Amino acid sequence: MSVFELISSEKSFARKWIGHAKLNEYGLHKARIRLADACLAARRFQDLGTPANFGTFLRDGIVALPNYLPTDAFTAIKKEALESFAAAADTYPIVGNTVRKGFGDKQPFPGGFDRYDGGTLNRFLDITEEKTPACFKFASALGISQLYRKAAGTIRRPGKFQLYQTVHGDDGANPDNQKLLHRDTFHSAVKLWYFFKDVEPEHGPLDYVVGSHKMNDKRLKWEHQKSVRASSGRPGVTQGGAFRATPADLRYMGLPQPTSFPVKANTLVIADIRGFHRRGHAETHSERLGIYANFRPFPFSPVRC
Ligand SMILES: [Fe+2]
Repeated sequence: MSVFELISSEKSFARKWIGHAKLNEYGLHKARIRLADACLAARRFQDLGTPANFGTFLRDGIVALPNYLPTDAFTAIKKEALESFAAAADTYPIVGNTVRKGFGDKQPFPGGFDRYDGGTLNRFLDITEEKTPACFKFASALGISQLYRKAAGTIRRPGKFQLYQTVHGDDGANPDNQKLLHRDTFHSAVKLWYFFKDVEPEHGPLDYVVGSHKMNDKRLKWEHQKSVRASSGRPGVTQGGAFRATPADLRYMGLPQPTSFPVKANTLVIADIRGFHRRGHAETHSERLGIYANFRPFPFSPVRC
């Protein structure tokens, strides 16, 4: 890729320009963060509305909205979704993974795919107007909801909403890297989860460091240090752009330790995944069932599109 990769959403320090050691020493990574933040602020400013709960999202980087749908609508969508999960499990039985380590490849099947994080299964099923009309209607409405649009600074829908089943494996046998605290992106981006069943502490609820989506001097310094290391070319240093944070890192940045977000069924969670987060620890074979979407806006557009 050319030098234009610097104004893309690309984050890997394996890239020629993003991973340029000298430029990062001079503050390239911090500059990309600052520019992306300025563009997001401009895009949000163009959206004159202030939807309910946006203030909480802006302050915390995460908001959980219980009782999101009226009971009748929730009952209908849940029935449809659970039938879809059951049908998929009948045809494509869920099996554990104790062999392949780390972030696995997609294993497609008609109507969806499986992907493993260590021993944790992520099963995604397509939502279509024909097969899952209630879920389709819900996803369509969510994709144009004011809160989502303001949070993401966009008028575009997420590329895809999917039914999402998480089945936890045995972390002792095959660790799940998503259970390590990290942030996904250098710029703000949004993930949405809507749950069909209660997510209890033993089901691995999302852990999120409240307020960690924001930049301050110490966070920028930490980001800079991480970028210098990631672009150093030293053997054994990961070049991925999803930086991990330790409890000591959080203390250095003046951030709290992670908060667990167990939620009731019929709760919508929206999070800015520039904030530090992880999949919570869970009992082996426990599961979460929901609808999922993520949206990574083009970070360097000052115009809402
Ligand atoms: Fe993540």
